[in-house]
Amino acid sequence: MPDPASTTSAYTMGYDEDFLQMLHWRSAETHARHLLPHLRPGLRLLDFGCGPGTLSVGLARAVEPGEFHGVDIERSQIEMARAAAEAGGHGNASFQVADVTDLPFDDDTFDVAHCHTVLNHVPDTDAVLAEVKRVLKPGGIISCRELIAASSFSEPAYSLAGAWETFTKLVIANGGHPQIGKELKRRLLGSGFEDVQATASVDMFSTPEARAVLDAVITEWFFSPKVMGAAIASGLATQEQFDSWQRDQARWRQDPGAVGAIAFGEVIATKPS
Ligand SMILES: C[S@@+](CC[C@H](N)C(=O)[O-])C[C@H]1O[C@@H](n2cnc3c(N)ncnc32)[C@H](O)[C@@H]1O
Repeated sequence: MPDPASTTSAYTMGYDEDFLQMLHWRSAETHARHLLPHLRPGLRLLDFGCGPGTLSVGLARAVEPGEFHGVDIERSQIEMARAAAEAGGHGNASFQVADVTDLPFDDDTFDVAHCHTVLNHVPDTDAVLAEVKRVLKPGGIISCRELIAASSFSEPAYSLAGAWETFTKLVIANGGHPQIGKELKRRLLGSGFEDVQATASVDMFSTPEARAVLDAVITEWFFSPKVMGAAIASGLATQEQFDSWQRDQARWRQDPGAVGAIAFGEVIATKPS
């Protein structure tokens, strides 16, 4: 059972396995490639919005014996992350339930603060960045990798382009920011960070294994009664559109030339000394 005190109604994706399988597919090596060259043993690192910890374990390994701290607002995710770190033997890693807009750390604590697909979902971006800046040491770095929904696609698109648009509207309806991956440089400069290095990369779903991950999340999460019901109830899509998207997703699944892509903006920036 989720802990009612630790869940947020603004979080579109939820915590069921139908979406978590996408997070389990991620790792620091594949999804924090822009950050890894900046890490070295002994740094103190914060992973805010760490989810089930699949990036966390690789980040903890990269700074060992430095302290790694993971926080997430959802207790079930913290328990999964803690179990993953214990299984990996990462004694430098600790995890706790916390809101990224109210972190339980002193000023100037961390050398590095990292997030992956978190600013996409937290309504008040400025509040997050101000709080993360507070707990970073002067000269410390922030690293973010966030979705750019408008640059993500299924190919062939069939009618599935409409499904991507509806997903985007769902995130916005929950207070999220599905395009913030392309706004990161401006947002970080606006929050007083400097030396901002902005890059972008795409998760390409082309191998049979990768296509199966994307297909499963679309089929089991996006086409689930809870997500379809929410989208239809709020007027973001009709049942007929979902029926059409489900037929087209079945065509996509059978097409050996089909691919999918999820685009991300990335940024590394420094808290002024
Ligand atoms: C899409 S998941 C990303 C998890 C992980 N970073 C990854 O990429 O695998 C977003 C995470 O942000 C967390 N989250 C959302 N709002 C939060 C908040 N205000 N404070 C802390 N965590 C939050 C959610 O609970 C969820 O685990």
